[in-house]
Amino acid sequence: MSTPASAADAAAPPPPQRTVQVRPARDDDVAAIVTIVAENVRLGHLLPRSAADVRHSLDNWLVADRDGSIIGIGSLLVMTPVLVEVRSLAVAPAAVGQGIGAALVRGLIAEARRRGFPTIFALTRAVGFFTRLGFSITEHERFPEKVWRDCVLCPLRERCDETAVVMALHDQAGDPDDTATSGDARP
Ligand SMILES: CC(C)(COP(=O)(O)OP(=O)(O)OC[C@H]1O[C@@H](n2cnc3c(N)ncnc32)[C@H](O)[C@@H]1OP(=O)(O)O)[C@@H](O)C(=O)NCCC(=O)NCCS
Repeated sequence: MSTPASAADAAAPPPPQRTVQVRPARDDDVAAIVTIVAENVRLGHLLPRSAADVRHSLDNWLVADRDGSIIGIGSLLVMTPVLVEVRSLAVAPAAVGQGIGAALVRGLIAEARRRGFPTIFALTRAVGFFTRLGFSITEHERFPEKVWRDCVLCPLRERCDETAVVMALHDQAGDPDDTATSGDARP
């Protein structure tokens, strides 16, 4: 049997709605983005990005905004006119497992498709996360642009533990995720 609500409970205002919006980054998000990147660089998850780099590439970033707090980030990095990378994807530890990472990647895919890129890829240790979103495992050698731009500078290049994952974008025009660069994650 449920306990009847007290008069005080009945009078209490409803809890605030905690919605998550995946949206394009703005100038005032740069500090939060840099903080999340830095935390993940320290943990060995991401490559560094400076504030100047983030500001310069702001059009390529999405953020997950929960009631004004940035709890997730992700960016596109253009490798060539026909190849774009998912880069600097991260969700705050307190917010993982709520669909926010998936919402960010779907937003980045939609944006890459909107810009006409035929191929999107990532180098990642979160392989299952990406394959569930429709990426396929492939060879690093398929992306010599990436190898020459970033991997040559990486101390782990001879024993890289990241897997290359790729998705073709041109043949999925009817994909329901194609509609927007913003959306709600799971509550
Ligand atoms: C990877 C990451 C972005 C996922 O964000 P998220 O908001 O937790 O993702 P979602 O809630 O959309 O999806 C969670 C699912 O992905 C899976 N997942 C998360 N990280 C994973 C990993 N490293 N390997 C495999 N699967 C992973 C979870 O197990 C979960 O599966 P479930 O739904 O069956 O429980 C987040 O864990 C993160 O910020 N990691 C650190 C940074 C990082 O590694 N970034 C990727 C660089 S390419």
